[in-house]
Amino acid sequence: MKGFSLSVLLFVTVIFIGCGGDQKGESDSQLEQAKALQNENDILCRQAADKLTVIFAGELKEELMKAMSTGGSVGAIEVCRIKAPKISQIFSINGVKIRRVAERYRNLDNRATVWQLEIMAEFKDTLTAPEFIGEWTRSDTAEVYHYYKPIYTQPICLNCHGGLQTLSPGVIDAVRKYYPNDKATGFKVGELRGMFMVEIEWPTGEGYAEEIVDFEM
Ligand code: HEC
Repeated sequence: MKGFSLSVLLFVTVIFIGCGGDQKGESDSQLEQAKALQNENDILCRQAADKLTVIFAGELKEELMKAMSTGGSVGAIEVCRIKAPKISQIFSINGVKIRRVAERYRNLDNRATVWQLEIMAEFKDTLTAPEFIGEWTRSDTAEVYHYYKPIYTQPICLNCHGGLQTLSPGVIDAVRKYYPNDKATGFKVGELRGMFMVEIEWPTGEGYAEEIVDFEM
């Protein structure tokens, strides 16, 4: 892999909004401040997720192109099978997770959850699709920013995700061998293939300042 390092700083101060009846001292301006900070957190997380996704996607594409130019589509399947999960692992550090999820998946590990399928539906119509969707979940133990960005099918993808009648016999054999339950064929150019997913997580109730993405490859 090529050498680069990226670091994105995330400073988060957790504040409680509207904590109930006996917090009489809480003024409107405090609430305003809290909201402003939350907006700022939202922007920071979005920017971090955006950056990470671009680099992650670039890395996957580079590995794919390299593998296809040396081993053709059949050889590249082997590379995708081993490298894709590994690249995902390398990028997922310090409370940050990144990977791809899909409705019609090749690798069962990439199966979208019911919630993710609802998000994916919003990306299906390319005329109305947002560029990304960012949402928060908060529990007693963790606050998580969830970021999703659509992946659309390009011509090169059809070598391995196109219609069965157009795939080469070698590709079909390799897919059957490694992914007997494959659902990721029959795509057309421009069709939604899946989504990038980024999750940024930290413990609830703690002021948190952490370098969330910092690695060298
Ligand atoms: C050489 C064959 C090949 C090509 C070309 C290819 N893929 Fe894949 N793709 C795979 C394999 C193999 C996997 C499963 C990787 C794994 O096991 O994690 C996969 C997985 C995926 C996934 C993850 C979800 C899932 O189904 O498991 C997405 C999304 C995806 N590919 C999109 C694309 C896109 C977009 C392109 C074109 C830019 C593309 N692929 C080109 C072989 C290929």
